Amino acid sequence: MNRLQVNLNRVSSSSYEVFIGHQIMDRMALLLSRKGWPRRYFAITDSNVSALHGERVLAILGSLGLQVEKLEFEGGEARKSIHTCTVLAERLMEQGADRTSALIALGGGVVGDLTAFLASIYMRGIPHVQVPTTILAQVDSSIGGKTAVDLPAAKTSWGPSPSPRRC
Ligand SMILES: NC(=O)c1ccc[n+]([C@@H]2O[C@H](COP(=O)([O-])OP(=O)(O)OC[C@H]3O[C@@H](n4cnc5c(N)ncnc54)[C@H](O)[C@@H]3O)[C@@H](O)[C@H]2O)c1
Repeated sequence: MNRLQVNLNRVSSSSYEVFIGHQIMDRMALLLSRKGWPRRYFAITDSNVSALHGERVLAILGSLGLQVEKLEFEGGEARKSIHTCTVLAERLMEQGADRTSALIALGGGVVGDLTAFLASIYMRGIPHVQVPTTILAQVDSSIGGKTAVDLPAAKTSWGPSPSPRRC
């Protein structure tokens, strides 16, 4: 297993680690428990990934005593919206997620972008972990630190200057 440290000098607490390896999902619980984070996690995932990996991830995390609940939404780019974000935030509230909780983005770029955006606004920001399940998410969206949801009028845009359409 390889470990890569990404240092963001502006705000030291923004630095994060990236773990890369074969069958690394099985070691996820160990890696998370070593972080010393609170024991309560909410795994955000889409319906496709949930069906393929959801139960396994819950079992892996549960095996080390981490408390994890799964929240899923219908897969697809159209769901990467402020509406889905609001629905998930309300479900987090209902389930008692607080500032000691952390989110796990289990899925492709859509889940990753949406979960990271949600983590950045929920209770003024809570930690999140990316568990990317598509090649695109593994090599790009999960590691760059950009987060977003789409507006109906425009897909996420990332130009040289802040875009009024980016949410
Ligand atoms: N934040 C960034 O820097 C950044 C960079 C690049 C792309 N993105 C965003 O990423 C998104 C695209 O990501 P994507 O291509 O991963 O799409 P996606 O997340 O929609 O996943 C594509 C499909 O594959 C399914 N899927 C995911 N993992 C799977 C698995 N292991 N096995 C079977 N099916 C699986 C999903 O349910 C979905 O139906 C776009 O919204 C794009 O804007 C963000």
